[in-house]
Order: sequence, then C-alpha cells, then structure tokens
Amino acid sequence: MDAKQRVGLKAAEYVKDGMIVGLGTGSTATWFVREVARRIREEKITVTGVSSSLACSLLAKAEGIPLVPPDQIDSVDLYVDGADEVDPDKGMIKGRGAAMVGEKLLAEACASFIIIADESKIVPRLGAKFPVPVEVMPSASRLVARGIEALGGKPTLRMAAGGKDGPVVSDNGNLILDATFGPDPDWRALDAALNALPGVVGHGLFLRYGAKSTLLVGSATGVRVVI
Ligand code: 5RP
Repeated sequence: MDAKQRVGLKAAEYVKDGMIVGLGTGSTATWFVREVARRIREEKITVTGVSSSLACSLLAKAEGIPLVPPDQIDSVDLYVDGADEVDPDKGMIKGRGAAMVGEKLLAEACASFIIIADESKIVPRLGAKFPVPVEVMPSASRLVARGIEALGGKPTLRMAAGGKDGPVVSDNGNLILDATFGPDPDWRALDAALNALPGVVGHGLFLRYGAKSTLLVGSATGVRVVI
C-alpha cells in the first residue's frame, strides 16, 4: 500500500454514521472517497457527501455516495482533503487540481478538517515547492496579474495539457494564475491582499483552518497523526 492510499483509508475511519462529509479532490482524496463508499456498501453506514469539485462529484457518483450540493447545506461535520504543501501550523497551499474555490468553501463550513498528506507535502515554510493558484474571472485576468505583480508575485496563466488547447478553465468557468512570491513573504498579508483584488474568485492559501484540523501524514510504513 502506498502512502497516499494508507492515509486515505485511515481518514475514512473518522467518518461516523449520519455525518455530512466534505469530499476532497486529488489522488490522495480519491482513496478516501473510495473507502467511504466501501463503508457505505459493506458496513451500511449512512453518509451524505458534499463534493469539492466536478472531478470529485463524478467519482462520488460512480462510487454510489449520495451527494448534496453545497448550496443546500448549512454546515459540514467533517471535511477530508489533500494538500500540495502543509506547514507546521497546518497552513496549506492547495489547488494543483484547480479546485481550491470549492475546497475552501468546505474548509470554511466544516466543524473538523482532516488533512491527508504524504511526507513530500510537509514543508517548513509555504511556497517551497508550489505556486499559489489564484482563480480569476477571465475578464479580470490581465488586471489581476498586474495586481499580483504589485504584491511582489510572478503570475503565470495555467495552461491545459493533453485534451484541451489553451488555458485551464476551472469548474466555475474561470482562469487560474499560478503565482510565486519571493522567499518567506508575509503569507497572511498576501492572503488578505489577494482576496481584496477585484476579479479574484479565490486562491489556494489555506491559513485559517489549522485550529480545527488534524493532519494525517502517510508513509510507506504507517500514518502519523498531528493534532
Ligand atoms: C486539488 C487539491 C489537491 O487536494 C492537492 O493538489 C493534493 O492532490 P494530490 O492528493 O493528488 O497530491 O488541492 O485542487
């Protein structure tokens, strides 16, 4: 069993009968979603899923997990998702899969957040490996790019690979600017500044959820729990 599978299966143990569960996006969260589906089938637990993305919805439907749309819920009991980077305060960069707007909706709404990651995701400081993805209205992309530069960042329009020409288009019909910032920027200030740029729909800095988060770190041999 590889680290992503191990940690995804472990997270599914936290799901209790009757819960509304936020379902994350990505290769690690996929293991979690599949295991929740198995528990519904074999252990007969009742779970209502709330999806973080189109990719997640397709997977959850194929696996037979009942879904409720985010606009029909007031809160989420438990949200489980992966991350691109996790720092010692459980701050994260998310959005490699361009799903960070739907993901942040669930991070905000949930009572508890379980972050599932392999060791490669654990970093001393954010920005070590991944840019910060910023979802922008197409009409605003040029002006937001200038705004990111004014904040000290270098934005790059994310291009689609393989099955589509041109840029990545998010589930919400928007574009993604991947922004790198200099060494050790003030991430909290950047979080607020990016939110304040007109045309920004959301971004992949998740800095406000550490207090309600449990981090599960998977390795080849086991799962480390960081409360
Ligand atoms: C998608 C995400 C994912 O949760 C993150 O990229 C981790 O993905 P993976 O588990 O495939 O490494 O934020 O937008």
